[in-house]
Amino acid sequence: MREAALAALANAYCPYSKFPVGAAVLTENGEIFGGCNVENASYGLTICAERNAIFHAISNGHRNLIAIAVVTPSPQPMPPCGACRQVIHEFNPEADVLCFGQDTNAKHFKVSELLMAAFSRHNII
Ligand code: THU
Repeated sequence: MREAALAALANAYCPYSKFPVGAAVLTENGEIFGGCNVENASYGLTICAERNAIFHAISNGHRNLIAIAVVTPSPQPMPPCGACRQVIHEFNPEADVLCFGQDTNAKHFKVSELLMAAFSRHNII
């Protein structure tokens, strides 16, 4: 998954932040889907690598995501932003989140711990 996230990172479009991010999602049947961040001159339209990877998997018919890996050029691993946590949670509240920076240490979380008391489909009446 780290390799797939790194391959996606190579395609990041980030002329404004110059901070490339790569992500890769593992689906129930063992397939891996990558995504990178894609920025825009209208900054708010930027989409994160994690959501691109997830939408890539969903667009290919998957609904249950086992895990997501995120790779950044920062020395320390970077956990996903709040919006991405919410989108990961949608497709598995117990998904594993693996974060890799450039240093050897990686971080592992459950999305449920990154997004406590999350809003979900169960809150919709
Ligand atoms: N970014 C991601 O791709 N994922 C995150 O979880 C946080 C931030 C991107 C968005 C933007 O292109 C760049 O990193 C700097 O914020």
